[in-house]
Amino acid sequence: MHISENNMIPDDLEVGDFNRRLKSWYLENHRPLPWRETKDPYKIWLSEMILQQTRVAQGLPYYERFTEQYPTVFDLAAADERDVLRLWQGLGYYSRARNMHFTARQVVNDYHGRFPETSEKLLKLKGLGQYTAAAIASFAFDEAVPAIDGNVYRVMARIFGIQSDMLSNDGKKEFAIAARQLVSKEDPATYNQAMIEFGALHCVPSSPNCAACIFNDRCFAYTHQMQGQLPVKIKKLTVKHRFLNYFIIKQGDRLAMHERRGRDIWKGLYDFHLIESKAPVTTLDHLTIPDPITQNLLKTGRLAEIPKVYSHILTHQRLQVRFWWLEIPETERIDLPHEMAFYSHEEVEVLPKPILIDTVLREENYL
Ligand code: ADE
Repeated sequence: MHISENNMIPDDLEVGDFNRRLKSWYLENHRPLPWRETKDPYKIWLSEMILQQTRVAQGLPYYERFTEQYPTVFDLAAADERDVLRLWQGLGYYSRARNMHFTARQVVNDYHGRFPETSEKLLKLKGLGQYTAAAIASFAFDEAVPAIDGNVYRVMARIFGIQSDMLSNDGKKEFAIAARQLVSKEDPATYNQAMIEFGALHCVPSSPNCAACIFNDRCFAYTHQMQGQLPVKIKKLTVKHRFLNYFIIKQGDRLAMHERRGRDIWKGLYDFHLIESKAPVTTLDHLTIPDPITQNLLKTGRLAEIPKVYSHILTHQRLQVRFWWLEIPETERIDLPHEMAFYSHEEVEVLPKPILIDTVLREENYL
């Protein structure tokens, strides 16, 4: 297939061919779902609200109950909110049900009970985003706008080799431009249902059956064996901020250390006695000392603060780390915190340690 340098979508002739194949696949393979048998924008809107929340199989009985109990937008608008919530029960995310009730009233009060007939006007309703507005506008009013849900991103990325991040704004724009070129101007309703259905049934996220695919002679992902890499979704990492307060317990030239275990950072490396806090600690008075062993050590030892605050950046975490020397007189016999032991200078040198710990010991002229 021809793909021009700055545009992933082929020319009109090939778009026509793509559309014909897609439609014939859909006519043979689609699931007969009740919201596909209607042009009523209210029922289509209901189905999309429910399907935002759950899969088709689980959503179906909810759709049936809602349309039976509230056959028109007037019925839903007049309903008691508690009844709406009760009917929604099990779908979760109840603010969506409340928004739905609100929108029904908005349609009744501001639009005489008639849903706006273009995607642009539908977008003004509460709880309707680009996808839902386009879905209703095309399914109910045959507006030639593409409805791009997760399924459609996958189908487009794979067949046309769109490698932009579908979660970024620039990526979304690129997909939207391509989708506007692809959408059938003759039958946008079937086109959108077919793209969604093709992604849901055939071009599935993992192990799609490419050998039996109607597009395998022209699919970018299949040709390049990139089904697993497309679509590109770059998740923004949520960065966690942590505040670590370390006591370097020292007796003679020995330091108390222990091996880190569990599922946290630095597993298998050795560090000092750690008390983590929810906020930065400027003086020790602000740090809650939870255990009697540490309280006792603080009474027995001589405390010397290291003034520098260390920042350490990991993939998912930003650490702000402080250290205090806690020197115990050689004559004292003390209990160490759980699983800690004293290591000689030579042992400390060779123990595997986080870089940060190594840096501090060097800066403090211990190593
Ligand atoms: N998911 C969201 N909208 C859908 C639709 N119209 N048909 C099938 N699955 C869907």
